[in-house]
Amino acid sequence: MIAQRKLGKNGPPVGRIGYGAMVLEGFYGASLDDQAIRTLRHAIETGMTMIDTADAYGNGHNETLLGNAVKPIRDQAFLCTKFGIVFDEEETGSDVPTGWGFSLNINGTPEYAAKCLEKSLRRLNVDVIDLWYLHFPDPKTPIEETVGAMAEAVHGGKVRYLGLSNVTAEQVRQAHKIHPITAVQYEYSLWRREAATTLLPTLRELGIALVPWAPLGSGFLSGKVNKLEEGDFRANNPRYSEVNLDLNRDRFAPLLDISEELYLTQAQLALAWLLHQGDDIFPIPGTRKPQRIDENAQAAEVQLSKDVLRQINELFPPGIAEGATLV
Ligand SMILES: NC(=O)c1ccc[n+]([C@@H]2O[C@H](COP(=O)([O-])OP(=O)(O)OC[C@H]3O[C@@H](n4cnc5c(N)ncnc54)[C@H](OP(=O)(O)O)[C@@H]3O)[C@@H](O)[C@H]2O)c1
Repeated sequence: MIAQRKLGKNGPPVGRIGYGAMVLEGFYGASLDDQAIRTLRHAIETGMTMIDTADAYGNGHNETLLGNAVKPIRDQAFLCTKFGIVFDEEETGSDVPTGWGFSLNINGTPEYAAKCLEKSLRRLNVDVIDLWYLHFPDPKTPIEETVGAMAEAVHGGKVRYLGLSNVTAEQVRQAHKIHPITAVQYEYSLWRREAATTLLPTLRELGIALVPWAPLGSGFLSGKVNKLEEGDFRANNPRYSEVNLDLNRDRFAPLLDISEELYLTQAQLALAWLLHQGDDIFPIPGTRKPQRIDENAQAAEVQLSKDVLRQINELFPPGIAEGATLV
């Protein structure tokens, strides 16, 4: 069973490693709902109690799937969802360009937040959401206004804790003044290390946990991604372009050698490295396969020596990966 630790200064204890459910929507290869439910339940049994979804994943389908999976074991799960990405064609938002070549439609208005909350509660089939994130800040709505609306959901008993995602340190400060923020989600892994300097110092000052998204570099760091299948969402990610994938593979080749010396898989080493960056870091790897839940969970037991951490730092410094990032 994965050890638990308090999520930020004001949060409850959750598993040191959580579970990211986005992968169950076919972003990185086909996923069947039956197996997805088995995988989700296995994740929770293993102690990956923090389950991460968003209303936008599968246009609401991921929340419904999760609602079905956790129904018999609701009290064991810490359910996290997000709102802010507009996926309903009848809704409007602001155009936010990303580094992956497409724009997102973002709405952080209080009216939209209130609507999304009711829909998420219904799809998740719960009375209360444990952690509710703003998925992306809306450039046209001050973050104080968005978080003010999210705080009303807490006061109304429909949400327990608040989170932010893909925000700057300054936005975290502005939001935290309106209502305590428990966790911030940002891409953070061995191939995307900037959050350690741009975000983490502020989160530590305010007692907020960091939840790294794509802790395995969307699979790259496991060393198991060969050719992308037709329709794989990672084709949008410049780090997975044919040229960059080859470059990145060469640069990260020593990761396999280190993991083999330690009798770990590459995925375990990448997760263990993240956990060694601080007790306030809660990675949420996603997998469709129950056996990989066990493999990833074992990373929580791994002790890396100072020498190994130094070696990893030297071999994979910030900026080593080729290709633009989402934010
Ligand atoms: N806030 C945001 O903007 C944002 C953005 C992206 C993601 N997220 C969240 O972060 C979560 C995780 O991110 P992610 O799914 O993009 O990336 P990830 O967790 O870094 O990687 C997932 C990929 O790694 C593979 N994988 C997992 N464990 C493995 C292992 N032990 N060995 C080999 N391959 C393994 C999975 O393949 P298999 O299924 O084949 O095992 C899947 O393709 C998401 O589910 C989502 O909840 C948030």
